[in-house]
Amino acid sequence: MKKLLVIAHAPSDNTIKLRDAILAGITKQPLENIHYQCLPPLQATPEDVLSCDAIILGTTENLGYMSGALKDFFDRIYYPCLERKQGLPFSYYIRAGHDGTGTNLAIQNICNGLKWKQIQPEVICRGSWRDDFLDDCTNLGENIACGLDFGIY
Ligand SMILES: Cc1cc2nc3c(=O)[nH]c(=O)nc-3n(C[C@H](O)[C@H](O)[C@H](O)COP(=O)(O)O)c2cc1C
Repeated sequence: MKKLLVIAHAPSDNTIKLRDAILAGITKQPLENIHYQCLPPLQATPEDVLSCDAIILGTTENLGYMSGALKDFFDRIYYPCLERKQGLPFSYYIRAGHDGTGTNLAIQNICNGLKWKQIQPEVICRGSWRDDFLDDCTNLGENIACGLDFGIY
């Protein structure tokens, strides 16, 4: 079995919907070799990352940066995971009411430092809420789960 880890900061109704859309995508196909673990960033530990085969991150943009919760996650897992998880397949989504640029850059920088491998384009849900954000997140979850199941990643 391969484990897909979802680390999602979901402080509002809309961001809960985005997280749930990712999970709906992961479970859309009956994939016997895949299971997932979904945690809020503040509850995730280095062991959760060490035991996963791919990771999807989700955050809001607040004050031009990722949520403090996701940054705290990176701060705690960085050195425990640095040597052992190089090449970890990852992607992410950002809910940004206005912009998303600062958060996107910061996640790219940190994940480059970790030497993780981005396997799907990020989803940036920018501006006023649109229901098609949910389709984008569902597709992201489905693509990563299927790719992992097929052994592409
Ligand atoms: C204190 C605060 C700071 C914010 N800063 C930004 C920001 O810098 N850039 C941005 O795109 N959105 C910003 N937003 C909007 C949030 O990204 C957005 O409200 C959040 O992702 C939740 O989405 P929702 O309102 O659709 O539930 C901010 C919101 C708050 C409350």
